[in-house]
Amino acid sequence: MDWIDVRSDTVTHPTAEMRAAMAAAVVGDDVFGDDPTVNQIQELAADKMGKEAGLFVPSGTMGNLLAVLTTCGRGQEAIMGSQCHTYMYEAGGAAALGGVSSFIVPNKPDGTLDLTEVQNAIRTEDDHFPRTRMILMENTHNRCGGVPVSLAYSQSLGKIAHANGLKLHLDGARIFNAAAALGIPTRQLAAPVDSVTFCLSKGLCAPVGSVLCGSRDFIYEARRIRKQLGGGMRQAGILAAAGILAIEKMSTRLGEDHIRAMKLAEGITAIGGMVVDPGSPHTNMVFANLDSSMPLDALELNELFKAKGILTHETGKRRFRFVTHYWVDDNAVTRILKAWEEIYSSYRK
Ligand SMILES: Cc1ncc(COP(=O)(O)O)c(C=O)c1O
Repeated sequence: MDWIDVRSDTVTHPTAEMRAAMAAAVVGDDVFGDDPTVNQIQELAADKMGKEAGLFVPSGTMGNLLAVLTTCGRGQEAIMGSQCHTYMYEAGGAAALGGVSSFIVPNKPDGTLDLTEVQNAIRTEDDHFPRTRMILMENTHNRCGGVPVSLAYSQSLGKIAHANGLKLHLDGARIFNAAAALGIPTRQLAAPVDSVTFCLSKGLCAPVGSVLCGSRDFIYEARRIRKQLGGGMRQAGILAAAGILAIEKMSTRLGEDHIRAMKLAEGITAIGGMVVDPGSPHTNMVFANLDSSMPLDALELNELFKAKGILTHETGKRRFRFVTHYWVDDNAVTRILKAWEEIYSSYRK
């Protein structure tokens, strides 16, 4: 079957050009610092993020974890949002591996945190308290609908962090989507933060990898911890070769995914049976709930879509997130809408 997969942009696989670049990649032992292709992607990434240095890591999760472990000691604290990926979906790595405490501030629906609440979350010096060391932010914000967070907000958060001697880390897994949606270069979006992780393996289509960027000293320490975690890779230039194309070529086409997400949302709204979240999509993610006329739950609907060659993913009992990416073209959007129309018309009361 000719499958369409809108469960996530993590399902993307490398383009033919990436596979060719991987086959031709010049490699060396990156634990010795000898892999020219890894060195190239680290420099390229650092340049795109406006930072001194970069570190190629296997995943976004490891990039965020390294940022926390590099910045916080045991018993120290990181402030982060209640809906952020690091808190929700990174298996408690900061606590498990670093003994780092998380202070959770509720996320607002637009992906931001109330700045007064952030300010109040910073600990005063007291024997009873953990010491606050950093603040984490996310852009685009996945669980808040893939919303791009404004530069003005990031600047305000940066001011609070720096006025209090804290570091600000950005989980920019999809920072290139944010840049495309806001029309602001990644370098500018990352300017208020001390460190940033971005992913090559989501909308940018590389098979594996993320890059953590920050100051030269920060990356030196993060590299040591990457080694402790077993993340020192040898001939990783094979992977970095795809990542270079991801940054140079794929990052410039993400606006197409945002347009297709909008077409999908408009089509679903026109058909009915699901209510798209107000304002969705902001980027490449459409969030929608089944309406009361549909006597199905999300898992049952996944199966019906699957029978039509479409892989979907529920984020609640009656809630979906459809994610567009390079492998979802106009024809795929049409097929998804046709499938939904057929399913809906057969169940409509
Ligand atoms: C916002 C965000 N941050 C971090 C990650 C983690 O990336 P990885 O799956 O490469 O560990 C994800 C993964 O989907 C994500 O959506």
